[in-house]
Amino acid sequence: MHRPRSVRQADVRGKRVLVRADLNVPLEHGNVADDTRIVAALPTLVWLLDEGATEVTVCSHLGRPKSEEDRARYAIAPVEAELRRHVHDDRLVVLENTRFHAGETANDEAYARELADGRDLYVNDAFGSAHRAHASTEAVAHLLPAYAGFLLDQELEHLGRLLGDVDRPFVLVAGGAKVEDKLGVLQHLGGRADTVIVGGKMAEELRDETPLDFPVVLPTDVVAAEAFEPDAAARVAPYDDVPPGWLGLDIGPESQARFANEVSRARTILWNGPMGVFEWERFSNGTKAVAKAVAENSSAYSVVGGGDSVRAVNELGLAERVSWLSTGGGASLELLEGRELPGVAAIPEASVH
Ligand code: 3PG
Ligand code: MG
Repeated sequence: MHRPRSVRQADVRGKRVLVRADLNVPLEHGNVADDTRIVAALPTLVWLLDEGATEVTVCSHLGRPKSEEDRARYAIAPVEAELRRHVHDDRLVVLENTRFHAGETANDEAYARELADGRDLYVNDAFGSAHRAHASTEAVAHLLPAYAGFLLDQELEHLGRLLGDVDRPFVLVAGGAKVEDKLGVLQHLGGRADTVIVGGKMAEELRDETPLDFPVVLPTDVVAAEAFEPDAAARVAPYDDVPPGWLGLDIGPESQARFANEVSRARTILWNGPMGVFEWERFSNGTKAVAKAVAENSSAYSVVGGGDSVRAVNELGLAERVSWLSTGGGASLELLEGRELPGVAAIPEASVH
């Protein structure tokens, strides 16, 4: 695996540094709902300031803004406010959501130049976005001397463990909403894990037809709701017999027990993505059951990644009982798939001494 050089090797005193962090945190009613990614970004920022950088400019995307209205919804302000609760330093500059620029997702050189302009060094600490070849994660790394931040480095260290010889059984639990993104990845991952468990929206997608060419443990029952609403009429239904027009918004009790049992036998675990609409109390039990099962398996090396899974673990107070809480969702899956992450590949390799 390509190990990028660490910012520790850089001379940052007197420098203006651009940091790409992944501050793409879940929001609820305009507020930060889980600050894991913000807290995880702090060590690099604080270190740069302590080492005497003249200016530390941090940038991140937030959400997937598409319309003009989304500009208000995904403004960086609440994230910046949260960040500034931890860092009281005028040398810290926070840029607006990078995805408000069309050039960001296009990996556009002109936008990358805008980011690089007037800055001396680039530090990528955005592991969660390292699978995206975007202007702030990729193009800009070719315009300034580029280094990996502490978080990026640590993530590669911990997730790298899953790439080598792992203790088996290796159980992969997948869920969450970004189904289009993740199915392709899962397809490639099938051979690496001994058991692949699928819940959440992904399982809903696989009900009628699966593109996966390996066996997958699917729910046997779901909590079906009449509408996509927090207080919709709901009842437990067989996975393959959900009333027409109803939606499976969580895995059912039987599936919870079955998934938990699989997880309890694992020696290596990667869990990515919630089992249902976890942010709505009535549809959160499946995700909680998986979180508990992962935490209770103290003999396994367990990695939990992705915003919502991490949030579940945090809300249940189980963070200490998981081996590594990853700030990467899709990024950890792609890394595990054996793919080169563009944000990582763009940083020169660490020199071997
Ligand atoms: C994530 O939350 O997975 C990362 O921040 C990347 O976000 P994206 O899937 O919208 O590119
Ligand atoms: Mg995510």
